[in-house]
Amino acid sequence: MATVYLAQASTTAGFRQQFALKCLRKDLRTDRVARALFNQEAALAGLIRHPNCLAALDRCELDGEAYIVMELVEAVSLKHVLRHFARRNASLSLELIARVMLDALAGVAAIHDASDQRGRHLGIVHQDLSVQNLLLTNAGITRVSDLGSACVRRWPMVTEPGLLIGTLNYVAPERLTGSGRADPRSDLYSLGVVMWELFTGQHLVPSGGTIQATIRTIHESNARRPSDYRPVPPSLEEVCMRSLNKDPDKRYQTAVEFRQDLRIALLESDIVEYDDGALQHTMLVAGAGPRPSLNGTVAEFVLAERRSAPPPVG
Ligand SMILES: Nc1ncnc2c1ncn2[C@@H]1O[C@H](COP(=O)(O)OP(=O)(O)O)[C@@H](O)[C@H]1O
Ligand SMILES: [Mg+2]
Repeated sequence: MATVYLAQASTTAGFRQQFALKCLRKDLRTDRVARALFNQEAALAGLIRHPNCLAALDRCELDGEAYIVMELVEAVSLKHVLRHFARRNASLSLELIARVMLDALAGVAAIHDASDQRGRHLGIVHQDLSVQNLLLTNAGITRVSDLGSACVRRWPMVTEPGLLIGTLNYVAPERLTGSGRADPRSDLYSLGVVMWELFTGQHLVPSGGTIQATIRTIHESNARRPSDYRPVPPSLEEVCMRSLNKDPDKRYQTAVEFRQDLRIALLESDIVEYDDGALQHTMLVAGAGPRPSLNGTVAEFVLAERRSAPPPVG
């Protein structure tokens, strides 16, 4: 829904700093819902500060249009990373998946716990967690991005009740019934879909069908176990399957609980969340050739993207 520009600011001392500037796409500027969601995202600027969140720093106005000022990150989305591995017919290492999920869960916990300036809990539900909105930075850290579809329970609702926003293939089944209030546990389901995709390299809910068919799949079909696709230790697989339970009461109740269980499963399975060495191995297995670290790879992705499409960056 947005256009993201690369912006450069100079300080009075002559230092140059780069930022990302996000604004609503031109064709959506007359769309009431899109505007309301964007303004809400801008209003959240500065309220979430966490190393695993790509949070907005400030907001500004240029020619009557609102812009969100964000720290510029050198990163690619998990969607890019998955495509990179798929092209090489390789799967992501369990160490890499562990690191990505632990980071993403810490970021989502921070979003769910965020408070306003007066310390009042905001009750944010992201509502659009997907491989597109999880960015892997050149420092190897996963950051949750894009609060453009969020629901903030403390603030007046910006969308009509029953209007579904977010990426359909990652949406929890209870969000399709249009009954309840936004629930953080729906975000945990979406992270379960992401985790399943990282394990299997497949889409849990295939895209391309009609909306009705997709909705039916979300309601009716049960996720196959990731170990049907590749070796996955049972305790780790259990974490993924629990997060995908169609009944929110049987899922993890908080991102913190999900993360703790994941940590225990990793310990039980003797999996160490990746370090640069493990990642180098993963990239070698993926046929990417010897790489000094993830930094190089991601930087290349970003540079390649920039070359083909100079600013805007998103
Ligand atoms: N702060 C940032 N630094 C670098 N790239 C960014 C930044 N914010 C967004 N992007 C890029 O822009 C894309 C779209 O941004 P996003 O916030 O997800 O908006 P939307 O999906 O609503 O269009 C992201 O996938 C990412 O590639
Ligand atoms: Mg996005």
